[in-house]
Amino acid sequence: MNIQVIGVVGAGQMGSGIAQVASSAGLSVIMSDINDDALNKGISMIEGSLKRMLKKGKITEDDMQNIISRIKGTTSIEDMKGADFVVEAATENESLKCKIFSQLDELCKEEVILSTNTSSISITKIAGVTRRPEKVIGMHFMNPVPLMKLVEIIKGLATSEDTYEITRDLAIKMGKTPVPANDSPGFISNRILMPMINEAIYTLYEGVGKPEDIDEVMKLGMNHPMGPLALADLIGLDTCLAIMEVLHRGLGDDKYRPCPLLRKYVDAGWLGRKTGRGFYRY
Ligand code: CAA
Repeated sequence: MNIQVIGVVGAGQMGSGIAQVASSAGLSVIMSDINDDALNKGISMIEGSLKRMLKKGKITEDDMQNIISRIKGTTSIEDMKGADFVVEAATENESLKCKIFSQLDELCKEEVILSTNTSSISITKIAGVTRRPEKVIGMHFMNPVPLMKLVEIIKGLATSEDTYEITRDLAIKMGKTPVPANDSPGFISNRILMPMINEAIYTLYEGVGKPEDIDEVMKLGMNHPMGPLALADLIGLDTCLAIMEVLHRGLGDDKYRPCPLLRKYVDAGWLGRKTGRGFYRY
């Protein structure tokens, strides 16, 4: 299968990162979002990341210009009809993702694989709204996408082996290491990571430690590159809450109950780095 053009739905933190690594691998990219503001923020994030790489000598000025020029931004999802492979990276919301997938199913050529960067939602459920469930798969990148090696690849109930192999090979082409996981709430990554972050929030909620002390313990004591509260701020507290809710609902065990403090912060609009305030101020 000749994949030249990657469609990326969503120009947020994850979508823009995915567009950047796809373009860095020499692929053309169509990146969509709902308005110019969101799109421009995505392009700025890509430019910011590339400038850091340029400064470190990891890429040249020419590389940077070429990577940017291969990414075409659009506010019309209709443009996905030009894609050979699609990665959806919209907000972590099941009904929104299902709506996007039924649109993509209408728009895209029938041989096109539709992948989702969901961090926790059932691939089988998303595939179920399309007429091509064998061509729907999870392609779960990690944040920050340009730096993190892992892509979790998740087959839904009907996903074909062909779809799996093409997606795995594409992840490798994008410089990533694919690891398979089964279609279960949170897959492998967030089944383990998110309860740890949620527990760190309970630790704060119950007054066991201050944010900087909780993070310091995990950095110095467990060799984590950043503490769980700083990581939650990087991921986005709304995304953390959405994932905990999927785990709680999907696994039916109260050990996955989202911490009330997490819910309160989300209600306040303290979503982490992206809003300038979460467990820390930015
Ligand atoms: N683009 C390009 N380069 C970047 C960058 C970006 N977005 N962010 C940082 N860098 C570069 C820096 O310039 C620096 O380069 P050098 O090593 O050449 O100096 C290097 O990366 C390290 O950056 P920093 O010194 O600023 O900070 P750091 O050493 O703490 O590393 C980090 C930053 C890689 C993010 C590290 O803290 C880390 O690995 N944190 C954990 C991240 C993690 O767990 N991600 C997964 C989240 S879960 C998820 O994404 C899935 C989900 O579903 C929720």
